[in-house]
Amino acid sequence: MTAEWKNYGGDTPRVSRARTMGKLIAILFMLLLCGAMFWAGLTYAGGQPRAEKLTGAEVTNEQLARAKTVFEGKCARCHGLDGRGQTVLGNMVKAPDFTDSAWWQDDVSNRRLISSVTSGKEEMPAFGRKLTRQEINLLVAYVRRFEKTSSEK
Ligand code: HEC
Repeated sequence: MTAEWKNYGGDTPRVSRARTMGKLIAILFMLLLCGAMFWAGLTYAGGQPRAEKLTGAEVTNEQLARAKTVFEGKCARCHGLDGRGQTVLGNMVKAPDFTDSAWWQDDVSNRRLISSVTSGKEEMPAFGRKLTRQEINLLVAYVRRFEKTSSEK
């Protein structure tokens, strides 16, 4: 190749074709990189930082479905699948009835609910080490829905 190049005193067709290919590959690579960065940006935006501000209204159905799964696994033994706290354990520990709008009449801010789930309250264990902040935020949004389901009926 070097010898050929010397003889022609310039780019051989083969060399210039290789260069065009090289450029194409470089462009493709850049596009891929941009795509990857864009994707990373998207997932990041959907992650922790924005989720901290989540309240009931802004939660997507997908996130609610995820919260439901966690609730069923970690919370329902006390709070019941329907949020009424009418399980054997729930009665023992006096879990509140989340469908009772009277319960919600106290000042139940997201801040308070999130801190109760994170650090525990009375008979409820702390979940701050078992769940991420985002999961806890979503669970609180999920729990808020129990009141709405009762008032819709
Ligand atoms: C061992 C039983 C138990 C489990 C498991 C449990 N809770 Fe509770 N939870 C309680 C009890 C009891 C209360 C009432 C505490 C009080 O105010 O006396 C409560 C209260 C709450 C409250 C209201 C807090 C407040 O500030 O009044 C929320 C919200 C809540 N639980 C969410 C959850 C979520 C979400 C989970 C699962 C990650 C969960 N709980 C798991 C027993 C439990």
